[in-house]
Amino acid sequence: MSDMQTTFVMVKPDGVQRGLVGEIIKRFERKGLKLVGLKSIIPSEELAEEHYGVHKERPFYNGLIGFITSGPVVAMAWSGIDAISVARIIIGATNGREAIPGTIRGDFGMDIGFNLIHGSDGEDTASSELALWFPEGTMEWNRDIEGWVYE
Ligand code: RTP
Ligand code: MG
Repeated sequence: MSDMQTTFVMVKPDGVQRGLVGEIIKRFERKGLKLVGLKSIIPSEELAEEHYGVHKERPFYNGLIGFITSGPVVAMAWSGIDAISVARIIIGATNGREAIPGTIRGDFGMDIGFNLIHGSDGEDTASSELALWFPEGTMEWNRDIEGWVYE
């Protein structure tokens, strides 16, 4: 199935601390995804807990919440055909040591916890995460180059 989708992507605090925000945004932008939301915030504990609620029972949960609330993140919404899986491919495997070179985690990550970036893993999580991080909604705009991205 090829559907127009919007996915939620977030540069985590390690990506911001390491000065990789521009590098990461560049990869989504040049791929042909369309930016429909962008902001930098220091997530509250409440927001982090809602975002990672699915991992509540996991041993790494408390560390993960502490990490995500430790400093600024860059929250983004990207649109495109199959944007959810396209973003996951750009991001790479969870553990940077196993992620393939050419992916963000494969090129810049050496750790499973400090893995630089988050991307929604399906349609349901994309819509709930977009509602959580962009309650104000995302942008609707026409991109002039659209006809040169999709045939
Ligand atoms: P994300 O949700 O952040 O995009 O990452 P993911 O889908 O590739 O991985 P997921 O299984 O959803 O795990 C969420 C985040 O939890 C941290 N984690 N730490 N120490 C550990 O064993 C461990 N396992 C997972 C990672 O930061 C992972 O991205
Ligand atoms: Mg995940």
